[in-house]
Amino acid sequence: MSKIFLAPMEGLADALLRDLLTRAGGYDGAVCEFIRVSGTTLPARTFRRVCPELDDGGRTPSGSPVAVQLLGSCPERMGETAARLARLSPHGIDLNFGCPAPTVNRHGGGAMLLDDPDLLLRIVAAVRRAVPEAIPVTAKMRLGVRDTARTLDCAAALQAGGAAALVVHARTKVEGYRPPAHWEWIGRVREAVAVPVIANGEIWSPDDYARCRAVSGCADVMLGRGAVADPFLARRLRRAEGDGCYGPHDPAADWPELSVLLLEFWQRVKARLLLQHAPGRLKLWLNLLRRGYPQANLLYHRIRACSDVGAVAAALEAAAAAR
Ligand SMILES: Cc1cc2nc3c(=O)[nH]c(=O)nc-3n(C[C@H](O)[C@H](O)[C@H](O)COP(=O)(O)O)c2cc1C
Repeated sequence: MSKIFLAPMEGLADALLRDLLTRAGGYDGAVCEFIRVSGTTLPARTFRRVCPELDDGGRTPSGSPVAVQLLGSCPERMGETAARLARLSPHGIDLNFGCPAPTVNRHGGGAMLLDDPDLLLRIVAAVRRAVPEAIPVTAKMRLGVRDTARTLDCAAALQAGGAAALVVHARTKVEGYRPPAHWEWIGRVREAVAVPVIANGEIWSPDDYARCRAVSGCADVMLGRGAVADPFLARRLRRAEGDGCYGPHDPAADWPELSVLLLEFWQRVKARLLLQHAPGRLKLWLNLLRRGYPQANLLYHRIRACSDVGAVAAALEAAAAAR
């Protein structure tokens, strides 16, 4: 059976959103946002803060296993950190070789490492050596820094280092998040390695899902922004495996369930963040939801200029009641 994973998204999909999205259904697992490994030794509380699921058997409340993602460029440091992380028994350790952020890349981390396949191999091997066999070590890569000249070398290096599976985000670093995603390159990686390859990039709909799998030849996918934009996407994809029919994206039918998720999100964001930051978090989610939900678009415009939590709550409740 094919697998669907929820992508790591720093600043967007934290434990709260992972909880809501995996509860909506369809996911076989998730990866948490990256934890940066630099000069200092990370205490266990850092792992727990980014991945609070570690305190609940490493699973979201609805039972999806969560892998913890590390980002760094020093094999020894990565190995030491992975060994500390392993004591908390994560379901997997994923290594980030795709982040395009200048603050990360300046220190040689994330996607910049794709210029150095030998270093990729040493990082994966150091992590693999440092953690018990039972914990899978996986890697998430882009196609390269500027072009695809070394894509296959990088994939081979990750495999040789001991990665149990590769997630391929089908763009180079310089392409950022601009469409298209080059799904045909995921297929080339799949043919070049023996480990499972998980396809990622620009899957927003059942149609994209079908085309991505056909072009890449991969059974398994990872959903990023598409999962946040349509919380029921994975569930629809999963159901289709049963009856061969994806079912329509029906905003009116989805809205009652979605507005309950939004209200819960808002309550929990408010309880956790400084009040002035809570509206911003909600707007971040609405900004993606409004691609497919006119109700979310209306709500987004109502609260866009709003920083008062009372007014945001009133708009949210009115939108939920509108059904
Ligand atoms: C806001 C944001 C934060 C992200 N943070 C991470 C991260 O922490 N680790 C990682 O490997 N990828 C990260 N990514 C990349 C996604 O996991 C995914 O590879 C990318 O968005 C492409 O998939 P999509 O087109 O389905 O969104 C992030 C993407 C976004 C949009």
